Amino acid sequence: MPIATAIKDALGSQSMIRKMFEEGALLKKQYGADHVFDFSLGNPDVEPPPAFHRVFLKLAEEDRKGSHGYMPNAGYSEVREALAGKASREQGLTLDGSCIVMAVGAAGGLNVVFKAILNPGDEVIVPRPYFMEYRSYTGNHGGKLVEVDTLPDFSLDLDAITAKLSPKTAAVLINSPNNPTGRIYPEKTIARLADILRAHGEKYGRLPYLVADEPYREIAYDNAGVPPILCAYEESIVVSSYSKSLSLPGERIGYIAVSPSVQDRNDTVDALIYATRILGYVNAPALMQRIVAELTFARVDVEIYARRRAAFTRIFNEAGIPYAKPEGAFYLFCQVPPRRKTGSGGASDDRAFADHLKKHLILGVPGSGFGKSGWMRFAYCVDEKIIVSSAEAFKNAVESW
Ligand SMILES: Cc1ncc(COP(=O)(O)O)c(C=O)c1O
Repeated sequence: MPIATAIKDALGSQSMIRKMFEEGALLKKQYGADHVFDFSLGNPDVEPPPAFHRVFLKLAEEDRKGSHGYMPNAGYSEVREALAGKASREQGLTLDGSCIVMAVGAAGGLNVVFKAILNPGDEVIVPRPYFMEYRSYTGNHGGKLVEVDTLPDFSLDLDAITAKLSPKTAAVLINSPNNPTGRIYPEKTIARLADILRAHGEKYGRLPYLVADEPYREIAYDNAGVPPILCAYEESIVVSSYSKSLSLPGERIGYIAVSPSVQDRNDTVDALIYATRILGYVNAPALMQRIVAELTFARVDVEIYARRRAAFTRIFNEAGIPYAKPEGAFYLFCQVPPRRKTGSGGASDDRAFADHLKKHLILGVPGSGFGKSGWMRFAYCVDEKIIVSSAEAFKNAVESW
């Protein structure tokens, strides 16, 4: 049976990552899962907080009439109100439930946002490196992803963003704390970005949206605050989820929060609700909505990730692998070290380095998958013991590189 050309192309370009997963599975079969250092997937292994199980059991037992039926596409109104309270605390302004649309995870939320705001050929500017699915999420809805470089420390390069703004710019998409770099964008940077977007809007009569993808907001280290977005810029939309903060990626629950100051706010929210319906989500999962509404103060134990970050960075320091110290999220983004033998390395060698690490039973993702060759991402969603026991393998891999 023929498949769509665009899908065929997409499947082809994914082959590098697919190959990596397949080879990883083979290695685990061959050597046993406990002997393979698999840092490839951002699938949280930290269990949801105990409060989740308590609320889950309570609501499941309630057997409230109609609790499994269709509902308004935006979600239950009481859930939207509860999450408006949470978003108000995080985003530095007061929202009510009419600013919230429940979503099927951040992935669902981003697809809904782009379906709602993009016209064919519209551009979405994204700083690189970036979460690789963004290309599909914008392309799904006729948009074009426009990549811009970040500064050497992976903070936003506002001049580069300014240079890429055009009359076709529908949105700038940011992700802080960032996957894969762990960078948190400071308040001052967000304020300057907002000024740049306002100036652009005045010049071209089209104010771009600032779309903030925030699944990692609650995973920040050393008491770092993640600056608010909605109070910083009137034309902003935040997409959030519980995949990481409550370790619920399989439950597919998140939400979209729209700034109360967005122009034509009712139209924007109506468009998001309509997109939720016609993309086939219809609404976010019912039971999960009711659960997260009762857990607006809960989150996973971030200290577990902080300890792993410390263990991982110690290993990289000892092995001589340069890295960007994550301020949030749970990834370590490292530079491919120079080859010992030739002294070359860097730029295009991330795939070769990933293959080399595999010989030492270490799995990570080449940075070119995130638009940044010469780098690699290691997810620390694995037991600290596995991280600690990978030290020797990393050292040997660097020495024989
Ligand atoms: C930056 C980023 N955005 C979005 C997602 C998708 O998250 P969700 O599971 O909530 O759809 C992920 C998942 O890893 C991510 O890293």
